[in-house]
Amino acid sequence: MDRIPLAKPFWDEECEKAAIAALSSGRWVKGPQAKNFGEEFAKWCGAAAAVPCQSGSAALWAAMRLLGIGPGDEVIVPGMTFIATATSVSLVGATPIFADIEPDYWCICPDDVEAKITDKTKAVIGVHIFGQPFSSRLREICDKHGIALVEDAAQAHGASLNGIKAGAIGDIACFSFFPSKNMAVGGEGGMITTTRHDLAQRLTRLVDHGRNDQLESIELGTNLRMSEVSAAIGRIQLKHLENWTSVRRQNAITINHSTKTRPESEHAWHQLCILSDNPGELISKFNDAGIDARVHYPIPCNRHQVYSEHHQHENSLQVCDEIAHKLVAIPVHPSITMDDIQRINSVLSH
Ligand SMILES: Cc1ncc(COP(=O)(O)O)c(C=O)c1O
Repeated sequence: MDRIPLAKPFWDEECEKAAIAALSSGRWVKGPQAKNFGEEFAKWCGAAAAVPCQSGSAALWAAMRLLGIGPGDEVIVPGMTFIATATSVSLVGATPIFADIEPDYWCICPDDVEAKITDKTKAVIGVHIFGQPFSSRLREICDKHGIALVEDAAQAHGASLNGIKAGAIGDIACFSFFPSKNMAVGGEGGMITTTRHDLAQRLTRLVDHGRNDQLESIELGTNLRMSEVSAAIGRIQLKHLENWTSVRRQNAITINHSTKTRPESEHAWHQLCILSDNPGELISKFNDAGIDARVHYPIPCNRHQVYSEHHQHENSLQVCDEIAHKLVAIPVHPSITMDDIQRINSVLSH
């Protein structure tokens, strides 16, 4: 019996041909593939502009730079997410302020965000955690307080909120193409999108040493560019994304779970996480049945050692502390078959 993995990167002949063609062209960087990939991605999610870059983490760092965030500034982030959401803030010298998450949808809690806004707050990074869009109240809160909203959409390609796709909800959005994500590029990769026309031109500049067309560096940037071969693979994968997202949604319907989805949204089902009072036992049951399962994310970000000096290191974010170690991710990706789903369901029913 084959093991059912938590994620399975897609690869076919078309991806292979596109990769070889990009390599054979001799144009390995700064060519048409990356340019077209950015334009196609922006069109697909409804953003004003998009630029491919080297990773989701690079995209988050770039977002902080684009918003002019630095020392003395605060950025509110959820306590439960992949650590890069928070470290992108620290890497530009600003302070991440950790907010609790919603008990039902596990995204950043709008009430806690509003309670933590100070005159130093420059932005909120909302994470569409596991593919579940964050609350639409975040946009209202950010507008009311005149601060930027950044989407960490690393797990949310294809998600939408009130009919607006992830990538076009915030001022800036950051996607990851890490191999386990809903689409990938054959290696590391990311995408930065923006809905703001005043930032559109700066996106391209920032991933290329802050240089303008005359090759003068007019702001601080570095080389975050995506290679042509990765962009060529990404362009092929983007064409499948709509279909993959529907298959993920169908799988999530067929799998027997009670994880909630936000009413006004479309979940992208990057992960199907199940809240379990006995996560260790559940994971063992899945593993014994040849199915990969694991806890996402067991340690709230403020409690990581990297934040040992942070004033919130010992603070309890009540919901994060209560459930972060109890969320068990199980396979929901588009490569699982009906037989696989039956195996998953039989573990869930015992
Ligand atoms: C929520 C979240 N943010 C940021 C990242 C960082 O993306 P990358 O691994 O491409 O740097 C990830 C990827 O794991 C993620 O899941």
